[in-house]
Amino acid sequence: MTANPSAAALTATIDLDALAHNIGVLRETSGTGVIAVVKADAYGHGAVPVARAALAAGAEELGVAHVTEALALRQAGIDAHITSWLHTPSTDFAAAVAADIDIAVSSPRQLAAVVDAAREAGITATATVKVDTGLNRSGVAVDEWDSMAVALAKAHAEESIMLRAIMTHLVRGDEPDHPLNSQQADSLDAAAADLARLGAPPQIMHLANSPAALVRPDLSRDLVRPGIALYGRTPLPGRGDFGLIPVMTLTGEISLVKRVARGQGVSYSHTWVAPQDTVVAVVPAGYADGVPRTLSGRFEVLVNGRRFPAVGRVCMDQFVIDLGPDGGGVAEGDLAELFGRGHAGGSTAADWADATDTIDYEILSAIRGRTVRRYVGGEA
Ligand SMILES: Cc1ncc(COP(=O)(O)O)c(C=O)c1O
Repeated sequence: MTANPSAAALTATIDLDALAHNIGVLRETSGTGVIAVVKADAYGHGAVPVARAALAAGAEELGVAHVTEALALRQAGIDAHITSWLHTPSTDFAAAVAADIDIAVSSPRQLAAVVDAAREAGITATATVKVDTGLNRSGVAVDEWDSMAVALAKAHAEESIMLRAIMTHLVRGDEPDHPLNSQQADSLDAAAADLARLGAPPQIMHLANSPAALVRPDLSRDLVRPGIALYGRTPLPGRGDFGLIPVMTLTGEISLVKRVARGQGVSYSHTWVAPQDTVVAVVPAGYADGVPRTLSGRFEVLVNGRRFPAVGRVCMDQFVIDLGPDGGGVAEGDLAELFGRGHAGGSTAADWADATDTIDYEILSAIRGRTVRRYVGGEA
């Protein structure tokens, strides 16, 4: 029986040395410093330990979407620069200002709320302006840019805010040679020039996500803002892996091994029927833990170095693998690797994404539920 180091039914092993290595790759390819994007609980890897390890490995700053995510990092004692870029009218800007979070604003309304919070606290808020250069998602809308620039300059002049950065997000970062990438960089440069003319030049500029940080160093500007590549997944699968190392390996401890007779159906609706007398095993991971139900019957797991197919429906808490008539030497308590580095015939998060017509970002950030995270490497 394989020893289960976390003694949990389902374990995501997070390799902080791999994370550190990936940060090194990104610094090298981009030629500049890294804002480690740790939003969405570090893409499912755990924001606090990942943030700490990223900073220890040389990341300059941290980036998150929600202010609540930034505040959780502060509460964990992380005092690095943190930028937060997705807000609603209910966002607690007062708390963000008090915690010295760099608030990236996307509208004059958001800026006014930050200015109010800064005045109320009697301090200067650190702010970034997020410019919409074509994504038409977050970021200052084109028709609001002129009034926004004036408002930013005013807030900067009266020291309600200190304008730290100007940022934008790429539409087609995963098509690095698409002309829109350079056009967006040009638009960002123009917006920064507008602010400089108004007397409020942003101190720094950033726009590069993972793909741009890997292959478009001309877009690096002052810092790059990678997410997925930190976690060892390439956003450009057609161009090799850049030496990135997947950070998460997901394993389940086999809960039950049993015989199933030829002609017997397995799991809900009996979508798989045993073609011969066989032995099956139950893996305690289901769609409530982030194993997509649409993956049913379309993946294999690795047990003791051998691949076994998942059969029948993925359920909420479990799925079944077919061990074959001789049981494959698999015993209850053995560990099934669901995905990881893809070594020795194992699957990767990208294999799951391909099989379910999505991207590995979604697979990784969906790992949840009863999964226990186990950190290895780094200073863990
Ligand atoms: C504003 C912003 N910057 C950077 C990133 C990181 O992107 P990626 O994971 O593709 O590197 C994201 C992720 O969606 C983002 O929303």
